[in-house]
Formats: sequence, structure tokens, C-alpha cells
Amino acid sequence: MDITSYLSDKQSVIEDGLKALMLQTTGSFAKHIEAMRYSLFASGKRVRPILCLATGEALDNSLETAKNLLPVACALECIHTYSLVHDDLPAMDNDTLRRGKPTNHILFGEAGAILAGDSLLTFAFELLSREDNSTLPAQKRLRIIEMIARAAGPLGMVGGQTLDIESEQIAVPLPVLQTIHRAKTGALITCSIQAGAIGAGATIEEMEKLTIYGEKIGLAFQIVDDILNVTSTTEQLGKAAGSDANRGKATYPAFFGIEQTKAKAKEAIEEAIDALHGFDAKADPLRQLATFIYTRSN
Ligand code: IPE
Ligand code: IPE
Ligand code: MG
Ligand code: MG
Repeated sequence: MDITSYLSDKQSVIEDGLKALMLQTTGSFAKHIEAMRYSLFASGKRVRPILCLATGEALDNSLETAKNLLPVACALECIHTYSLVHDDLPAMDNDTLRRGKPTNHILFGEAGAILAGDSLLTFAFELLSREDNSTLPAQKRLRIIEMIARAAGPLGMVGGQTLDIESEQIAVPLPVLQTIHRAKTGALITCSIQAGAIGAGATIEEMEKLTIYGEKIGLAFQIVDDILNVTSTTEQLGKAAGSDANRGKATYPAFFGIEQTKAKAKEAIEEAIDALHGFDAKADPLRQLATFIYTRSN
């Protein structure tokens, strides 16, 4: 299989899904909805929703499962986009470029960006819980909602973001650095895979393997993000290069240097692929997505 065409096919599926599910810019709240749509429809890679769909396919490539997972995948992208809008705020990373465009608060103001983020997060849970866009039994939908809420919340992404900010300009020990990465980035990536697995009826053993896969690529994803922040350009990334060092962020490159960091990311990717032992060719997209996370250029 060709991962480049797989990614572009799936990106269009997500794009279409988001367009169908997202609120339209009409009525009293048009400006607020425009702020949500501005960041959501910028050029994100759609990695988390694609991982969700690819996990579903790895277990059960039926049309029904794909349809049931699409709103889940779209909800994950809404949560991820909210996290980026808030991450860029002056009180957080204070960035002015994201997905190749001015950050949300540059266009809509700080209050507008905070509120757009709030609504992207809240709307995601509306998408997850709505009965009209899924044939999944309520019990499974509830498990997915719980899993995503936990991953996005105080012991997951938001907790990780808190530690990330608190650790600026501090030489944190490696276990703290790993906790930051696993929480701020790994948790949402892992739960994207777990949500796909629940939707596709994974066994306990399959869920265990997929969770290891998710945790490994989740850690690698942030390590590679930190490598690219050092080695790439603002143009290539569509967001500011060199910003981590400027803010004294706790990163793998700051801790280990670039070469050792690359080796660690590669090792995590290999372990992720190993965790899929026993899965058939339907899991090849997951295997290739792991490699993509390491070799990506933005
Ligand atoms: C960037 O995520 C933020 C991190 C968690 C490292 P992505 O690299 O997935 O960003 P987009 O969605 O493609 O813009
Ligand atoms: C982003 O981490 C993590 C979340 C938004 C949850 P970073 O701050 O390292 O990511 P970029 O480099 O701004 O995309
Ligand atoms: Mg940040
Ligand atoms: Mg940032």
C-alpha cells in the first residue's frame, strides 16, 4: 500500500465528514462559528481521526464500522483543533502562525479564540453522543465518550499542557519530560486508536496490543514534533520553528541532543509496529502510519 495516497484519501473522508457535521456560519452566532471553522478547516494532517479510522479498518473493514467511526474521528479532530487554538494563546505558547495561517487569536482576538476552543471541545462531545449519526449501541458510545473525556482532561491532555507550561525554563528530570509528552500528546493519540478499537469490536487482547501501539506512536509523535522544531523551518512547518528553545521548553532534543533523540523516536516506532504482531494485512495502514509519524516533514 502507498501511505501517501492512503493519507490523502482519508484526509478527504475527514474533510467531507467535518463539512457535513460542522455548524454553518449563519444566525446570531455566525462570527463565533466562523472562528471555530477557521482553525478546523485549516490544513491539519488529520492524524488522530485517520488513526481512528485505520484502527477500525484493521479489525473490521465493513462500511457500517467506517460510518460509525466517522463522527468519532471528526470529534477527535475538533478536540485536537481546540487544543491547538488554546496552545497558541498569549498566555500559553504565544504563537502567531498555525497550519500556515495566522493563529486564531490574531484574527478573532483572545476572547474569541478562547471561546472558539471551548465550543470545539464541547461540540465534539455533542458529535460523540448524538444518536442520529451512529448505529453503535449506546453502551459502546458511552465507553468511547468516557475514554476520550479522560484522555482530553486533567490526567491527560490538559494535565500535560499544565505541566508543559510549568516546566518552562526548568531542567526537568526525564520521567517528568516523559509524563508531559505522554499526557499532552500521547493521551489523545492513544484514545483515537482505542475509540476506533471499541467501535470495531476489538477483543481484550486486540485492545491491549493497540493500546501499546498508540502509546508508542503517541510518545514518538511529540518527540518528532520537538525534533522538527529544531531542524525544520517555519515555512515547512506552517508554525514557528525554533520556538521551543526560545521558551526554554522541556523537550527531548534539549535533554538528549538531536541524534540520540532521533534514535529514541525510531525505537518507539519500531516497538509500536512490533505491538501489532498477529494482526493481518488490514493493519498495514497502521504500520505505515507509524513510519509516517517518524518520517514526516511537518
Ligand atoms: C501538533 O499536532 C501538536 C502536537 C500535539 C504535537 P499535529 O502535528 O497533528 O498538527 P496538525 O493537526 O497537523 O496541524
Ligand atoms: C502541543 O504541544 C500539544 C497540544 C496542543 C496538546 P506543542 O506546543 O509542543 O505543539 P506545537 O509545536 O505548538 O504544535
Ligand atoms: Mg505547547
Ligand atoms: Mg505550542
